Amino acid sequence: MGDLFSKFDPLIEQRETLLQGGVTDPFNLVMERVESPTVAICNGKRTILLGTYNYMGMTFDPDVIAAGKQALEDFGSGTTGSRVLNGTYVGHKAVEQALKDFYAMDDAMVFSTGYQANLGVISTMAGKDDYIILDIDSHASIYDGCALGNAQIVPFRHNDVEALDKRLKRLPPEAGKLVVLEGVYSMLGDVAPLKEMVAVSKAAGAMVLVDEAHSMGFIGERGRGVAEAQGVIDEVDFIIGTFSKSVGTVGGFCVSNHPKFEILRLVCRPYVFTASLPPSVVATAATSIGKLMDSADKRTHLWENSKRLHAGLRQLGFTLGTDEPQSAIIAVIMPDLETGAAMWEALLREGLYVNLARPPATPAGMTLLRCSLCALHSEDQVGEILGMFAAAGRATGCIS
Ligand SMILES: Cc1ncc(COP(=O)(O)O)c(C=O)c1O
Repeated sequence: MGDLFSKFDPLIEQRETLLQGGVTDPFNLVMERVESPTVAICNGKRTILLGTYNYMGMTFDPDVIAAGKQALEDFGSGTTGSRVLNGTYVGHKAVEQALKDFYAMDDAMVFSTGYQANLGVISTMAGKDDYIILDIDSHASIYDGCALGNAQIVPFRHNDVEALDKRLKRLPPEAGKLVVLEGVYSMLGDVAPLKEMVAVSKAAGAMVLVDEAHSMGFIGERGRGVAEAQGVIDEVDFIIGTFSKSVGTVGGFCVSNHPKFEILRLVCRPYVFTASLPPSVVATAATSIGKLMDSADKRTHLWENSKRLHAGLRQLGFTLGTDEPQSAIIAVIMPDLETGAAMWEALLREGLYVNLARPPATPAGMTLLRCSLCALHSEDQVGEILGMFAAAGRATGCIS
């Protein structure tokens, strides 16, 4: 009998080799206690969190927690049903209203995760004979959305407007086309030239979907994302987002102004064939989204943190994913997986948690230490973080 696991042997071997060197498993860290959006106890040690995507620090907001507790009391622990059967409570409608208000859009549809939102909207919108034109560095959920549907997939070079334009011009003019972009690309923390990309997409008659998972709450005057910041939010057909980053809980969504948008509730399989979010989750999300609208001071502080960390790491001699800070993600490029894992562990020993990212999630086979800042990191914490990078970098030979 063929062992279906044998295809994973190279990965198992790579993992075993890495762990034999005595390093802590970077993909199996346990948070023993979480004290705040920026500090947890890991291996019994106070650890600054710099890899959580908790950009706006909403997870411990007292209003958010109170709303969740109240909903748990009033509506129970779960809905035990799909949105189209018994799984739509007043809280689900309230969070969809909060999203419509936040984005100033006509319609909002909430999914159980952001992953499912991409899976559902992409696979349902682009059918047989349609084309999906996507940035080659797109998130796994975008690729999986393509795989679930029947459309033709046309990738183009990362953030390359000319390449997108060329691909679009080669497609049959009358064919249905969906251009899929991200506001912030989460591996390197770079921002898409949405203004130009939306212009060439619209000129080719394509609809545009933008995943703003890593920009919601932070980028744009009202925190609506890169499409807002670049002045094209009204030209985008679908914005996809998640509750698992700035909103501080779990869930996903799509907002749109398209007059026929509501039909998706009946035809989108990752919306129909799964249970809806628990009442406590949608209550926390609605409260958090409401507060994010008026968080200009936090956005300003987060930009300051991002600039401070980027400049400090550069000064220490690290190679970074972007020349300038473009978002709340700052990626430190490691020469290889072994060095990356050693540096990750040295940082953890210092009391700092970052994300270790490696292929296939990363572009161009890179190993990255990804730092995601929080609006609640204090100036002192950013200073502490830089001190830890200096010590770990020297200990591992990453910097001199
Ligand atoms: C760009 C992007 N889209 C979608 C998702 C999925 O979000 P969720 O965690 O809600 O499934 C992520 C999560 O990492 C992401 O980075």
